Amino acid sequence: MKASPIRCLVTAGPTREFFDPVRFLSNPSSGKMGFALAEAAVHRGWDVELISGPVSLPDPEGVRIKRIVTGQEMFEEVSKRFPGCDILIMTAAIMDYRPKLVADHKIKKFELEMVIEMEPVIDVLTTVGRDKDHQVVVGFAAETNDLVGNATKKLHSKNADFVVGNIIGGEEGAFGRDDNRVVVISNDNDPIELGPMSKSELATALLALFTPRLNTVVTDDTGSAE
Ligand code: CTP
Repeated sequence: MKASPIRCLVTAGPTREFFDPVRFLSNPSSGKMGFALAEAAVHRGWDVELISGPVSLPDPEGVRIKRIVTGQEMFEEVSKRFPGCDILIMTAAIMDYRPKLVADHKIKKFELEMVIEMEPVIDVLTTVGRDKDHQVVVGFAAETNDLVGNATKKLHSKNADFVVGNIIGGEEGAFGRDDNRVVVISNDNDPIELGPMSKSELATALLALFTPRLNTVVTDDTGSAE
């Protein structure tokens, strides 16, 4: 009997947190890594859903895509789909804070306070990772320093199976580039370095690393491993 395809949920891009109708806080994530992973997963024959923040990339072929704007929307869309997926890959660069007050009109410059009070946005990966059952959970860690140390801390604090660390900033900064160099942290192996290579090649290499873990946890309805 043919096993059903692996159900893969990918998040990508930045989120935006508005403080008036025309201004927001965000980051320079291009979404390229997440879109490349969604495409590579389709090539593997997986059933792929992509939840993306605002990016200028077209819908990848063969992927069901949901476009969102804020961290809260990202949380709601991921939470809905997480129980039904086999692997969650969180490349999204979610804003950690949002303005406490959102004005319903454009703030004129003479009324804008120089201090914007902020509150935390829910940590999607930590929240869904806590309730994981059979799912393989992959986080990304964007770091400016101590990549392995910080990515390892995130592996444990977010209850993830893998954390893919990449250096942000400087010559090699990953935001917006077409290539990338990462280190993959897991409980089973020493850190594995990949790249520099194109984000598309990297996506294929990453899925090859994640797949053996899926085979140990995902079974079809005959009870045999896929
Ligand atoms: N993440 C998340 N929800 C957030 C922030 C981040 O799910 N509110 C996820 C990201 O998608 C990524 C991982 O957590 O897979 C790590 O994100 P990163 O920004 O590197 O780390 P933070 O948890 O935000 O920690 P810090 O900013 O202190 O480095």
